[in-house]
Amino acid sequence: MSKIDVFISEEQIKQRVKELGEEITRDYKNSDRKLLLIAILKGSVVFLTDLMRNIDCDLMIDFMIVSSYGSGTSSSGNVKIVKDLDSSAYQHDILIVEDILDSGNTLSKVIEILKTRTPHSLKVCALLDKPDRRVSHVDLDYKGFEIPDEFIVGYGLDYDERYRNLPYIGVLTAENM
Ligand code: IMP
Ligand code: MG
Repeated sequence: MSKIDVFISEEQIKQRVKELGEEITRDYKNSDRKLLLIAILKGSVVFLTDLMRNIDCDLMIDFMIVSSYGSGTSSSGNVKIVKDLDSSAYQHDILIVEDILDSGNTLSKVIEILKTRTPHSLKVCALLDKPDRRVSHVDLDYKGFEIPDEFIVGYGLDYDERYRNLPYIGVLTAENM
């Protein structure tokens, strides 16, 4: 694996994920409903496993796989569910856990779909936010880091399925492609 410069270090990620977990714990600990964390595969897996261990509430996890189809290289607003939830979202407190919010196309569609399942509440947590790229509006309730418009990899995020196992977040450059 070629060397990628550190953009957000392991230590910075660890600290921020701890803070997010504490914030989420405060917001949900007095709820008498079950908290359901929903991660959208695959990029969010690393973040989910760290975040959930920093949340001190009763919770469940579930996964969705969605594919966005259409023309072009960036995601479109057409989202197809490839793997749906195993659990019911009905009357649960849902927290969607995402790696990165980019155009917002995928997430805004997923939110639309989940809202039809009448959860008790629905919030969104994203580790990274690239606001310059936004096309579809998404309300972010919990945000790790706001980043500029760069293509980043590591900590679950890939370039052509590579670099997900980097323990830190780095910016992809031409020599790493
Ligand atoms: P959106 O529908 O454009 O918001 O797409 C979001 C998805 O695109 C994320 O969940 C990531 O899987 C992927 N993505 C967006 N930006 C990056 C990036 O900089 N690096 C790696 N994956 C990215
Ligand atoms: Mg990806």
